[in-house]
Amino acid sequence: MKGGDFSTEGVGERHTADVSAVTDITQQVTEARLAAAADAFAQLAAAGFHERAVTLWYGVPLVSDARYVPPPPSRPRRGLGGAIALLVAGEDVAEDGLGVLPAPARAALIDLGLVERVGERLRARVAVLPLRGLLLVSDRLDATADDAVGAPDLSALNLVACLPPLPPGARALDVGCGAGVAALLLARAGAEATGSDVDAGALALARLNARLNGVAARFVEADLFDGAPAEHHALVAFNAPLLRAPLFSDGNAPARYLTTARGEALALDFLGGLASRLAPDGEALLHAQLTAAVDARLDELAARAQVVSLRFAHAPDGTPHALTCIRPSGPTGRRQVRVPLGPACPHLRREILDAALAPRALRPDATPLAAPWLELHSSRVFAQPGAPTLRALTFGSHAIDDADLRLLESLVGAPLAALDVDAERLTRLVDLGLVLLR
Ligand SMILES: C[S@@+](CC[C@H](N)C(=O)[O-])C[C@H]1O[C@@H](n2cnc3c(N)ncnc32)[C@H](O)[C@@H]1O
Repeated sequence: MKGGDFSTEGVGERHTADVSAVTDITQQVTEARLAAAADAFAQLAAAGFHERAVTLWYGVPLVSDARYVPPPPSRPRRGLGGAIALLVAGEDVAEDGLGVLPAPARAALIDLGLVERVGERLRARVAVLPLRGLLLVSDRLDATADDAVGAPDLSALNLVACLPPLPPGARALDVGCGAGVAALLLARAGAEATGSDVDAGALALARLNARLNGVAARFVEADLFDGAPAEHHALVAFNAPLLRAPLFSDGNAPARYLTTARGEALALDFLGGLASRLAPDGEALLHAQLTAAVDARLDELAARAQVVSLRFAHAPDGTPHALTCIRPSGPTGRRQVRVPLGPACPHLRREILDAALAPRALRPDATPLAAPWLELHSSRVFAQPGAPTLRALTFGSHAIDDADLRLLESLVGAPLAALDVDAERLTRLVDLGLVLLR
């Protein structure tokens, strides 16, 4: 990398707008501008504008964390770093340092209104976030406009990383699609995907993202299932907004991000209408707070469907956040697994959900493995120099004893038939979600 690549000139210059740039852009789109901007996006992706580059530039584990971290002054504002500073961090960037975006590509982004010229510099009117091979336009990460359409966040990552593989052409419905991330990923994977949203601005943006990424998905305006395609779907997903207002309000957070005025009725209505759109052998994924009423409704559903909730955090008002999977044709009953997110597992993954959905019988050919997303934390007392004694050992939220530890350490990938383990203890660890059966 050239010395000049470390230039930090202009660092920290960020500007916000109080009306959604996305709304303005989507109202003036033309086919020719879209096609040129789609080419520019393809060039950006080919130049390495990926999730990993953004997380390395920011020094954060997840691309969605970028909105919470001030852009680091020490990172380059030229080349790929320049594109990240411009399109993710929202900084004004010198045009001559943006070699990853050749002049025609820059002109295409300006023409579509995604970027504007400010003197010798460029400024993004939107954010462009790379996610799983897509480049997703949203309003800027620091946008404060009431009508701003938000970029995918941790809940979106949780959802998209837990989407099931579907047979080609299977129907999928992404309720509350926002910028379109789940619908677009499903369509790109071969599903016949529809995204629906009650917000016309979100739908216009989702359509723009579909064109810019060359993905064919359908987007329709609907209030939950009212207006959504009438067919049954192999997958119905809903990444719901916060159901309850937090106890405190961060004045800098976009208001729309905080909560839905409909409260928990939104999730209850989703669950109530689900059977009208979900195929009997299909799967629903609901990413929502488990308020007491939502939790009780899921318990009721478990009398006629398989229900698994992966609890991973708490909302500011104390209600658990969970991704819940509902399978009408699965074995009835409900299972809840607590998955403490952390460095070993920064977001939920399908592997975790599959393990929680799998039968828990200790078959001789099943291979038990310590849950890969949990970290083993030990704390030791250094009473005598050089001879630490073990004080406490936890695996996720569970305090484990020496026998648990020996059992976990013996799970090295051999089938149960080849292992000499205490079946009762293993069953307990499987029930706790600390051991997976493959
Ligand atoms: C948390 S965002 C999720 C956006 C997107 N699916 C993602 O994961 O990034 C929730 C979305 O639900 C939409 N929404 C809220 N109420 C809705 C309703 N009654 N019917 C359909 N969508 C709704 C909002 O407009 C918003 O786009």
